[in-house]
Amino acid sequence: MNATATAAPTERALLQTLDMLSESQQRAIRRIAPHDAATVPTIEARRPVSTFTGEDFFQLEQQRLFRKQAVPITVSARIADPGSAVAHDGYGIPLLVTRDKNGVSHVFLNACTHKGAKLIDGCDVAKGNRLTCPYHAWTFSTDGKLIGAARPETFANLDKSSRGLAELPSREAGGIIWAMLDRHAAPDFSGVDDQLAADFDAFELPGLHVYGHKQFHLDANWKLVLEPFLEGYHVQRLHASTVGPLFADVPNVVDTLGLNIRQISGKMNFTPDCLDIPGENIHASVTHAYNVFPNCVVVTSPYYISVMFLMPTAVDKTTVDYFMLTRRPPDNPKGAELYRKSYEMIVSVFGGEDFYAAQLSHAGLATGAIDDVVYSGLEATIPLYNEILDRVLAN
Ligand SMILES: [Fe+2]
Repeated sequence: MNATATAAPTERALLQTLDMLSESQQRAIRRIAPHDAATVPTIEARRPVSTFTGEDFFQLEQQRLFRKQAVPITVSARIADPGSAVAHDGYGIPLLVTRDKNGVSHVFLNACTHKGAKLIDGCDVAKGNRLTCPYHAWTFSTDGKLIGAARPETFANLDKSSRGLAELPSREAGGIIWAMLDRHAAPDFSGVDDQLAADFDAFELPGLHVYGHKQFHLDANWKLVLEPFLEGYHVQRLHASTVGPLFADVPNVVDTLGLNIRQISGKMNFTPDCLDIPGENIHASVTHAYNVFPNCVVVTSPYYISVMFLMPTAVDKTTVDYFMLTRRPPDNPKGAELYRKSYEMIVSVFGGEDFYAAQLSHAGLATGAIDDVVYSGLEATIPLYNEILDRVLAN
C-alpha cells in the first residue's frame, strides 16, 4: 500500500481526506482510459422479470445466498469500542453484534437464554461490556457469557456456563463483519476475499467513524436496489439535476475479487496522470464502487465512504442500512459543515433518486408488462454480477 498523494497539510487537517490506495487499486486506476478514448461495448443481455418478482426465485436466494453462506452484516465501525453491542434486525432475524473487551467481534442471536427476550431493542449502541435483559435482569458480557442471573439460588442446578448466548459463525475483515445467518449450516465464508480486505484496509475502513446512519424500508426487490450501484447508464439521466454532471458517460474498469466486484471510474475531471499529481486527493477524480457479494455496496467520495447493506425481507421489500463513514468526527467548523452537507446530499441522492427508481422499477415489473429486462454496454457489470449470482445459486 502506498500513499498516492499528499494533500496540503491544512486541507488534510480540515477535511480529513482518505488518500491511501492498495497496489491493486492503483493498477486499476492506471487502466482507466481517457474519456475521449473510452469506447462503450455493445452487449446483448437479458434477465427474466421472475428473478425480481418471483416468490420461488426469492426462496431459492434465501436458502442458497442468505443461509448457506456468510452474508455481510454491518461495518466494524458500528461497534468501534471494545465492550460495545448493537441490535441488528435487518435480515428479519434478531441479531446482536458485539465487540468484546479484547476487541473481537461476535454475532449472536438477540435472545436471552432465560426466556428468549431481546437483550437490546432499538438502534442505540450499548457500551460498558454488560448486556442486561430488561425482563428478569439476566446479564451477559459482550463475549456472550452469562455473568449474572437475578436470585440465582431460586434455580436448582443452574449451570451458567451452559446458558451463554447463541453465537453465529462470523468473521471480520477490511472493516466489514460477515456472519452465517443459519448457525446449523456448514460455515461458508467464501465471499470474504483477501484482495477485497486489502483494498478496504487501504481505505482504512476498519478504523473509520460512523458519521451518519440511516435505515430505509423500500418496496422493491433487493437486486433492483442493488443494480444502480452496478451501472453508470442511469447516472447522467436519473441524477441529471444532482450529481450526474460530475460523472462521465463511459464504462468502468471492472475486476472480480473472488465473488465480489470492484468498479473504478474516472469522474468528469479525471486525467490519466491523476495518481502522479502531488497534493491530489485521488477520490476527487476517481470513484470506487464495490459489490461485497451478494448485497453490500461500498462507494468512495472525496471525504467519506458510503457503505450500504441491502437486506431482503420479502420478494418486494428491502431494508437498507446506509452508513456514511469519515476519518474522524468533524473537529472544526469547515469540516462539520462539509460533512453535514455531504450527508444531506448523499441521503437525498441515494434515497430520493436511486432507491426511488428501484421502487418505480419494481412496481412496473410487477404488472407483468414485460417478460425480461435488457441491459446496455453501460450496464455490463450487471450481467457479470448475475453470472456470479447464478453460479452460487446453482450450488
Ligand atoms: Fe445512482
